[in-house]
Amino acid sequence: MVATADGSIGKQGFVTAVLNELENYSYFYACGPEPMLKAVCAESKSSGACSFEERMGCGFGACMGCSCETKYGNKRICRDGPVLEKEEIIW
Ligand code: FES
Repeated sequence: MVATADGSIGKQGFVTAVLNELENYSYFYACGPEPMLKAVCAESKSSGACSFEERMGCGFGACMGCSCETKYGNKRICRDGPVLEKEEIIW
């Protein structure tokens, strides 16, 4: 299912509204602004993966500007990601 803010494609509204309508899914993939990723992780009933595509500084692991706290220690989105599992992310 697809959701867009303006309704130009799929359902109009936030992706969390579509997510709440789905009953039979076992995994999700999400990319976009961090508040949306956080909302999807909070609302989803399954495991899933989030792509943190906007959290980049140098892009090659030197600046630590993309560091993200996880259950397994800090990870650099540019080197260790950009995709992290829902269960490992500490918001
Ligand atoms: S963007 Fe600099 S360490 Fe990831």
